[in-house]
Amino acid sequence: MPDLSLFDLTGKKALVTGGAVGIGRACAVALAGAGADVAIIDVDEETGPKTADEIKAMGRDSLFVPCDVTSKAQVQDMVKAVVAAFGRLDIGVNNAGIAILGADEELDQADWDKVIAVNLTGVFLCAQAEAQQMIRQQPTEGKIINTASMSATIANCNASYDASKAGIVHMTKTLAAEWGRFNINVNCISPSYVLTPMHASTPTVVRQRIRELTPLGHVERPEDLYGAVVFLASAASNYVTGHDLMVDGGHTLNAWLVPLGRAVPPRVDPEQEVVQMKHDLDALGTPYDADGINPDVHPEIADAFKAAFGLGE
Ligand SMILES: NC(=O)c1ccc[n+]([C@@H]2O[C@H](COP(=O)([O-])OP(=O)(O)OC[C@H]3O[C@@H](n4cnc5c(N)ncnc54)[C@H](O)[C@@H]3O)[C@@H](O)[C@H]2O)c1
Repeated sequence: MPDLSLFDLTGKKALVTGGAVGIGRACAVALAGAGADVAIIDVDEETGPKTADEIKAMGRDSLFVPCDVTSKAQVQDMVKAVVAAFGRLDIGVNNAGIAILGADEELDQADWDKVIAVNLTGVFLCAQAEAQQMIRQQPTEGKIINTASMSATIANCNASYDASKAGIVHMTKTLAAEWGRFNINVNCISPSYVLTPMHASTPTVVRQRIRELTPLGHVERPEDLYGAVVFLASAASNYVTGHDLMVDGGHTLNAWLVPLGRAVPPRVDPEQEVVQMKHDLDALGTPYDADGINPDVHPEIADAFKAAFGLGE
């Protein structure tokens, strides 16, 4: 019998950036569910502490540390605060990220700089500070998990976002090659379209198109990442490093020409798809309709999809 306790994270100490809501919160919940104590790191000083309280309610230790991942000084102080509370750092999930939509031929350089600063520089600064701690502690080892995106592999969003995510995938390989000598694994996870507050403005017709062009037939939920993050955080992945783990329901397997048929219903129905997104919108105090939609959260996303799908006002 294989020893499946190798997925157990009891006693491990973790931090998750962008942990207040969305994919970051899901990663924190998954790590806590597997036994880890988890620090929530975010710029959102209202929602972050609520998520830390949720982790404590799961019976794990937690704290909220405010931090803008684009600031090296704040990132260094953040890791110090986590280690002061937890004693060490075993797992760093570098997930904070943003997208600023718009046509690339008109892109403002300030927007390019901001996306690269959060998504690429921020992930590097966090990975560096985490590795410094993992190298210094005894035993020297650790797991670093970066959130990339399918947009690293397919041209999906816009130049700044896609380039930042492709940068994460390659940076992950480089850091994995460099830090293997310290028993530090560095991997990344690439989700597809995940129903988080980032997607609260995505119209229902778009969700239906995603379902039709995804072999597993439902829109991705934050909780669809639970298994991937626990695997990459645990001893189960001890010989896996520099890997980009695509979690996309098969969406990027082909350039689909026609809607995919189904033999049986997907495992997740439309109501279940939005459970965590509604939880997060509640935590943010953001109203939404029955489908969990609020066009005002990201009007630029709502407008872009309306234009692409020929939807009127
Ligand atoms: N939602 C998707 O469809 C999707 C798909 C693939 C990849 N991703 C990536 O997953 C990550 C999380 O996305 P999400 O959908 O949960 O986003 P979200 O907008 O719902 O949540 C992002 C969190 O990051 C925090 N944050 C933003 N800038 C920060 C900064 N400078 N420092 C610290 N915290 C900061 C926000 O306050 C927020 O709590 C991002 O890197 C995103 O690019 C998302």
